[in-house]
Amino acid sequence: MGLLSHFTLGLVVAVLVAYFMSIKKNGGSSVVSDIKKKYDYIIVGGGSAGAVLASRLSEKDDVTVLLLEAGGEETDKPIYHVPTGCYILQKTEADWGYYTEPQKFSHFGVKGNRSYWPRGKVLGGTSILNFMVYNRGSRYDYDNWASQGCTGWAYDDVLSYFLKSEDILIPTLKDSKFHNTGGYLGVSHARVTPFVDYYLKAAEELGFKIVDYNGEDFEGFAETQFTIRNGERSSTSRSFLRPVMHRQNLHVSPHSIVVKVIIEKQVAIGVEMIRGGRKYQIYASKEVILSAGAIGSPQILMLSGIGPKSHLDELGIPVIADLPVGENLQDHLMLGIPTGVNITGSFTEKAVSSWWTYVQYFLFGTGYLSSSFLEVVAHVHTERCEGYTTAPDIQLFFVSGVPKTHTIEIIDNIKNEKRAKLDEGGFFGFVGLLHPKSRGTIRLRSRDPFDPPIIDPNYLSEEDDVKTFIRGFSVMEKYLTTKTMQKIGVTLDLLNFELCGRHEFLSDVYVECLVRHNAVTIYHPTSTCKMGSPDDPSTVVDPQLRVKGIGKLRVVDASVMPDVTSGNTNAPTIMIAEKAADMILER
Ligand SMILES: Cc1cc2nc3c(=O)[nH]c(=O)nc-3n(C[C@H](O)[C@H](O)[C@H](O)COP(=O)(O)OP(=O)(O)OC[C@H]3O[C@@H](n4cnc5c(N)ncnc54)[C@H](O)[C@@H]3O)c2cc1C
Ligand SMILES: *[C@@H]1O[C@H](CO)[C@@H](O)[C@H](O)[C@H]1NC(C)=O
Ligand SMILES: *[C@@H]1O[C@H](CO)[C@@H](O)[C@H](O)[C@H]1NC(C)=O
Repeated sequence: MGLLSHFTLGLVVAVLVAYFMSIKKNGGSSVVSDIKKKYDYIIVGGGSAGAVLASRLSEKDDVTVLLLEAGGEETDKPIYHVPTGCYILQKTEADWGYYTEPQKFSHFGVKGNRSYWPRGKVLGGTSILNFMVYNRGSRYDYDNWASQGCTGWAYDDVLSYFLKSEDILIPTLKDSKFHNTGGYLGVSHARVTPFVDYYLKAAEELGFKIVDYNGEDFEGFAETQFTIRNGERSSTSRSFLRPVMHRQNLHVSPHSIVVKVIIEKQVAIGVEMIRGGRKYQIYASKEVILSAGAIGSPQILMLSGIGPKSHLDELGIPVIADLPVGENLQDHLMLGIPTGVNITGSFTEKAVSSWWTYVQYFLFGTGYLSSSFLEVVAHVHTERCEGYTTAPDIQLFFVSGVPKTHTIEIIDNIKNEKRAKLDEGGFFGFVGLLHPKSRGTIRLRSRDPFDPPIIDPNYLSEEDDVKTFIRGFSVMEKYLTTKTMQKIGVTLDLLNFELCGRHEFLSDVYVECLVRHNAVTIYHPTSTCKMGSPDDPSTVVDPQLRVKGIGKLRVVDASVMPDVTSGNTNAPTIMIAEKAADMILER
């Protein structure tokens, strides 16, 4: 049984149905049963990027917009709006539920050596499943994109698009020039446990700064900023789309799976879509825009004949454009360090299922149901000195509980007698690798659009990635052995895995063994339709996000990032959609 028992879940759903009925009523009018033959713009995928794009393009009332989403509506289930829902939404109908290929250099401690890759399949996409951390990344991420040929994407160019979306609800940040009020996307703190104070105190003990990581200083420790408004998840469907669902020029079609882009004489003219067992051909007079995510967008492009020639030839798909679609796959990996503590307040089954928890949530939108418990986040250069002009290499973050779900499979590798201590409460410290050198691929398994693609992130194939992990671990080790952490009973005991017992405990080879067995995804796949200069043979789209060599076809989602950002990828994806909307409408 997971952290939230089925009993708990049933209760949450039952009581919340009434509370959230108002959301459902709030304009189902744009959800169409009769799709027209032709629209100005067809957007494929209503996720973090697609929902934002549909909202912005339909602001112009003389254009017509169709949004096609494979999953259902986010209003169908109240749990989609409850922050703690992130612990139970994986492997449900709202999740594509991908597995990677068995990994050669990592995942030795995970069943089948495969990584589980949840992806949202619902209006709002992965912004419905995610842990809601609001993180724009480092300014150097964008400056680096620009220097690689992404003209117009330097930090100073993109900051205004982050601000455009934002409605900062943290009082102390309202006057910061790095934040904005009045945007669609609610951003707030969601502190629930008393652990936050200890996390920050231990950081100060080591000499780290406490920062606003979305402001002037990215490096240092911080209380996490979340895409949460009044205790409710700010998914892109809830925050950008629902308020404009009444627009006559916007049609939204859920349960609609796009199987290919229709291309005539190197120009995209429409899409082929399947809904309710019927095939539709719908035409776009202005543009087709793929926002199907870092797995979906390359899949649709390849099914349409746009991809690496040799791969498409193998499958007998006629090649329309030979481009490196599905190459350059990047993802963040994390190593989790669980520990028991001797203070109370952690996110446990008992805490979540108490009556007070429900009362508190319904009355005030606070308490154990109002957060993902990823309460503190930090970004560090593992070789510390002043005045960096590069992005940091490691993210540390802290989850104030020890969820026993498949999200953290490695917990199964902890021997039973030690797990008892965790059940009483504790936390997870995570070390995340921000700039992996390893690169993977997305390929088609067959010509069947319903066949899941072959995902091979090729994690830790580059030795340097392991070295960076080892340096990151040593920062975490110092951190977890500070006086502050010792005072609350933190130990590294639980890292004593039998699997790595042949090495000296916590030596570099021991840590390498831990990483290769237990490091798992932070769920940030990107970069499979790389943006950059059209002359660069490694790119798929130009800086206007237009697919090279094909007219009227763009990709707008996490797949265009030339390199993954130094943090969580939802806010950067929303920014990409905001900027794309202005480029498309030539505003
Ligand atoms: C468990 C988890 C936790 C995460 N935590 C965080 C976090 O705390 N903070 C953060 O910043 N990021 C987090 N992320 C990552 C972040 O949410 C994603 O990077 C981001 O949502 C990607 O946006 P996207 O628009 O590229 O893709 P998505 O949001 O996945 O949207 C793609 C949409 O296209 C649809 N689609 C796909 N194929 C088709 C098709 N053929 N036809 C029609 N529709 C299709 C999908 O159903 C989906 O709705 C997390 C991700 C996961 C999975
Ligand atoms: C998984 O990794 C282990 C350790 O390297 C190896 O022994 C095993 O054969 C692998 N399993 C699969 C399915 O590849
Ligand atoms: C917690 O454990 C530490 C280390 O054993 C000890 O010093 C401290 O007094 C304990 N605190 C409580 C509240 O029991």
